[in-house]
Amino acid sequence: MNIKQNHSLKKYNTFNIEAKADYFVELSSEADVFSLINSDILKNNEILIIGGGCNILFVNDFKGLVVKVANKGIEKIKEDKENVYLRVAAGEDWDSFVKYCVNNNYYGAENLSLIPGCVGSCVVQNIGAYGVELKNVFYELTAYDIFSGDKTVFDKQKCEFGYRKSIFKNKTFSKYLIFSVVFKLSKKQNFVLDYGNIKQEIEKLSGSKLNVKILRDVVCKIRNSKLPDITQIGSAGSFFKNPFVSFDKFFEIKKKYPEIVAYKIKDNLYKLSAAWMVDKCGWKGKRFGDAGVYEKQALVIVNYGNATGKEIYNLSKEIQKSVFEKFNIQLQPEVIII
Ligand code: EPU
Repeated sequence: MNIKQNHSLKKYNTFNIEAKADYFVELSSEADVFSLINSDILKNNEILIIGGGCNILFVNDFKGLVVKVANKGIEKIKEDKENVYLRVAAGEDWDSFVKYCVNNNYYGAENLSLIPGCVGSCVVQNIGAYGVELKNVFYELTAYDIFSGDKTVFDKQKCEFGYRKSIFKNKTFSKYLIFSVVFKLSKKQNFVLDYGNIKQEIEKLSGSKLNVKILRDVVCKIRNSKLPDITQIGSAGSFFKNPFVSFDKFFEIKKKYPEIVAYKIKDNLYKLSAAWMVDKCGWKGKRFGDAGVYEKQALVIVNYGNATGKEIYNLSKEIQKSVFEKFNIQLQPEVIII
């Protein structure tokens, strides 16, 4: 384990923001975790645990120790007639894992193709796309309490998964270091095809033929057509969460804007499309220096090159303000702001 000082975080956040950490360490093994737990630098500093840095905006330098989890490996630990259980290192790239599942005909993760990030941080975030959330394929995880050194297994219930959140995102942020995650994949296909234009895209790509590889290709195609390639343009995907409102609130907006994009969740609960609201406020494609709103998806804020964290943050505040003024809705960031 090699703790570096005054280290640039630019390579470690997909917004490509230049920020510095007082201390920075990458962990690749259990031995590294134990060395860290026993180190004085850990005891005397604030800690931030990161994975792929795909959902973080650094507005300031980090006055403390940034811990990047970088362990690797996928291992089959159990199998029965219906399911296969895979233990995956938290530092493994999420999409490489999805690809592995698809290539082996293990079903359940395919709709989550091409989401940037590491396995551990995807759990923190309970990532979701095209009608599927990570919790649907989650079985259990092993984490270390970095302050006490205790090793704990969290089952699905203990993780308290919700829309884009888990116990690790809110209550215990950077207390637990997620080391490995066990996923339960199905050996039988049971595709989720109801979201948006998935069915039409399958039809276009392959006619009536459908298998897990085709579904992955379709999901990748849709994502590539709407979301920026983070190797070319800095971003953290959706910047805001879709807000949940009561029927009355939904109806009040619908009266004024009959075209509102919203989804009924249950009787008195509606999910509103934040992208639609931001779009309606005229932000799509707007650019201020190197900070901008992506031209194909209004929920995505981008760094075209050398935007600072503050510039991205200020733009997000302006967007929040205009959505509040127009719809009386307070958008909440999905991205973690440091
Ligand atoms: N829309 C607009 N303007 C836009 C974009 C979208 O009006 O600029 C409307 C369209 O009517 C569209 C609807 O909003 O049909 C929904 O858009 P989209 O399918 O792109 O989904 P989203 O709700 O904006 C969520 C996730 C994405 C995920 C997609 C697909 C959140 C915060 N975002 O976006 O996740 O890929 O659904 O399932 O829930 C991410 O979390 O980083 C992310 C990209």
